[in-house]
Amino acid sequence: MYKIRRCSRLFKRQVGGNLMEILDGISTMENYLCDMASMEWRPIAATFELLPACNMDCKMCYVRMSMKEMNERGRMMNADEWIEMGQKAVDEGVLFMLLTGGEPLLHPQFKEIYEGLRRLGLIVNINTNATLIDEEMANFFAKNKPRRVNISLYGASNETYKNLCNNPKGFTQVENAIKLLKARNIHIKLNFCITPYNIMDMDKMIEFAEKYEIPVAPTSYMYPPNRKEKLGDYNAHRLTPYEAAKARFDLDIKEKGDEFGAFAKTTLDDIKSRENLEPICERGFGCRAGNSTFWINWQGEMTACGMLSGETIDLKKHGMKQSWKMLNEKVSCTKRNDKCPTCKYKNICYVCVASCQAEAGAFEGVPQYLCDMNEEYEKLLIKHINYI
Ligand SMILES: C[S@@+](CC[C@H](N)C(=O)[O-])C[C@H]1O[C@@H](n2cnc3c(N)ncnc32)[C@H](O)[C@@H]1O
Ligand code: SF4
Ligand code: SF4
Repeated sequence: MYKIRRCSRLFKRQVGGNLMEILDGISTMENYLCDMASMEWRPIAATFELLPACNMDCKMCYVRMSMKEMNERGRMMNADEWIEMGQKAVDEGVLFMLLTGGEPLLHPQFKEIYEGLRRLGLIVNINTNATLIDEEMANFFAKNKPRRVNISLYGASNETYKNLCNNPKGFTQVENAIKLLKARNIHIKLNFCITPYNIMDMDKMIEFAEKYEIPVAPTSYMYPPNRKEKLGDYNAHRLTPYEAAKARFDLDIKEKGDEFGAFAKTTLDDIKSRENLEPICERGFGCRAGNSTFWINWQGEMTACGMLSGETIDLKKHGMKQSWKMLNEKVSCTKRNDKCPTCKYKNICYVCVASCQAEAGAFEGVPQYLCDMNEEYEKLLIKHINYI
């Protein structure tokens, strides 16, 4: 059996794309600030997607472009432009910043951007595949520490990295990066995206996290990559809903250890108590996106969340203040389906407006993949504890 207790401390649930990356693990005071910001519809956290290009090519990725594709589609913003954007965000009250991509460390002026944003007083987190973190980059971070480096771990061997990410050296590079960052006391979290290409490594990935004592945020739900021009056969690159439910179940058993039985019973009681509720219609996104956080895509447009397709606001035309207002209005008026708010699976479901749009083509749609996943998860819980 796994070292369940230690493992339990290491787990964090990853939900809702990148949003959690900025706001999870924050202190009580920071939490209070975020809650206040949410109540007043003020922006407190922002994500800057520095570029869509990446040195890897993960099969399930919702954003990745090659350098050539990126240059054909637009222009990367330079350090001065990102820092100016950062200043405008700070002027509106932003305190927490997530740098992501593509691979943010691939931006030719990453260091200037990072230092410039830190100078503005922003608390900066970074999402990275970590393959570009060498001794020099680790020393750079050690001098000017980020709040946290969120590293996506895609497998437990170079073979898996080759199959999923088209990088046959990826695992060695990431392990090396982790050693370098840990030696410099830089705070790390590991994100796991479980897909058909790395599910066989799941146990070893957890052992890896335990070995280095790094918290993990695993997810077996992959969004359809609906920002991409060509969707491709995305279902081939993610688990079926039934496999995703089983992976979630297995991860939960490892996370909760001896407490899993009690957890299963409480979860099933909650599902039962929510049976036969009347459908109700709700407006708004129901999360912090566009309410107290925003996302600037690599072309400098504002959106509520990077998982959404379209729905962008032209910052150059409207400016930061007006764009934020427009985003608030858009988000608060958004009509969602009437099934999810009173669904019996609501408290275990990963549903959000982005998954509705990506799975069902509209904010008002119902993402059947998630319904199937939750039904299967419930069955697994029932069988495990003989629930009546
Ligand atoms: C797009 S990447 C950008 C940062 C960096 N390149 C990395 O891999 O961490 C941000 C996160 O999104 C996750 N991701 C990519 N495609 C996804 C999808 N279709 N559904 C859910 N998460 C996805 C990645 O695994 C990663 O953890
Ligand atoms: S490393 Fe990140 S950005 Fe690059 S392809 Fe993979 S998920 Fe996408
Ligand atoms: S997506 Fe399906 S399972 Fe999830 S809350 Fe909505 S209706 Fe329920």
